[in-house]
Amino acid sequence: MKKLLAVITSMTTVAALTSCGSTKKEEKKTIGIAMPASELERWNSDGEYLKSEFEAAGYNVELVYSNNDSAKQNNDLIKLISDKVDLLLVAAVDGTKLSDTLDSAKTAEIPIVAYDRLIMKTSAVNYYISFDNYAVGKLQAEFVSDKLDLKNSSSTYNIEFVGGDPIDNNARYFFDGAYETLQPYIESGKLNIPSGKNTLEQVATKDWTTANAESNMKSTLSSYYSSKTLDVALCSNDSTALGVTNAIESDYKGSNAPIITGQDGDAENLRNIVDGKQAMTVYKNLHDEAKVAFEVCKTILSDETPAAGLVDKLDVQTKFDTDSYNNGTKYIQSYLLEPTVITADNLQLLVNTGLYKWDSGNKYLELVNATEVPTS
Ligand code: BGC
Repeated sequence: MKKLLAVITSMTTVAALTSCGSTKKEEKKTIGIAMPASELERWNSDGEYLKSEFEAAGYNVELVYSNNDSAKQNNDLIKLISDKVDLLLVAAVDGTKLSDTLDSAKTAEIPIVAYDRLIMKTSAVNYYISFDNYAVGKLQAEFVSDKLDLKNSSSTYNIEFVGGDPIDNNARYFFDGAYETLQPYIESGKLNIPSGKNTLEQVATKDWTTANAESNMKSTLSSYYSSKTLDVALCSNDSTALGVTNAIESDYKGSNAPIITGQDGDAENLRNIVDGKQAMTVYKNLHDEAKVAFEVCKTILSDETPAAGLVDKLDVQTKFDTDSYNNGTKYIQSYLLEPTVITADNLQLLVNTGLYKWDSGNKYLELVNATEVPTS
């Protein structure tokens, strides 16, 4: 694997140098990568993997994590801009709070690519790379609907929604995708929401943390479920699903195992899937998302325009979309990848990505160390 990395490094470095031409341009270019927080498993994997991928291709990387703190992320970005990075790849903490900082990056002619979360209210953003976020919620809802056979069943079920943090633009897409898919069953009375919480604001989880999801679910259980059955907790992602699982284990009075959904494929949640505590997760291959980000950034840094043509060069199923994501100033050209449903029955799909491996007992999955992951 190391050998593969070395070969790719030398090949891509040579390619980068030959395509740049002049002596000045032979200096390594620097990518500034800003991730929201290292506490949540996925951003750690994203950050480390992107860093190793760019470095392997001969770029310098400045990688920062901002503790889920938007003021810190602004300062981190100001520092990267003053370091004169050649491009910024940013997964925003709060997509609405970076406008001034990123406008100054635009003035300094630093291209900006929004990673996973759209950056709002600034025309400085050039491209957006993410998964089809609405589809994530839709897949969670379709899973629930199939599992309960809502189409044919004459039973009624109780469901609660657990959303993300609305300061993250994705949170609304996940919630809408799930809620709108189940809405016909909610309206017909097949699905009841005993808490009555049916908007993202009412089911939001601040900072997406496990602790906040756990305390929210505990209070929902004590207020509405002293004698009711909870059939489904439709959680937007794995960190919130974990909190809900904890709350159910400690405070739920019923004897059934509610269907719990998730997103990301975090290691602890995958254990819960094996153990039957969580029913599914929607997996977004970070390797693929990083690969697309890498190609978009590389193309921009070669003074070319990625546009629709880039999709044909990718070996990852990606949609080029110019009319779904408006950030309040314009539609941002987007590259959207397809998410996948993971259950206890198809965990091997994760192993096939090269990002997970079976543990020594062949029962649970572990994450493969970012630096050992084969590059494309
Ligand atoms: C990402 C999810 C992640 C969530 C919390 C979202 O923007 O798309 O993958 O679970 O943030 O970090």
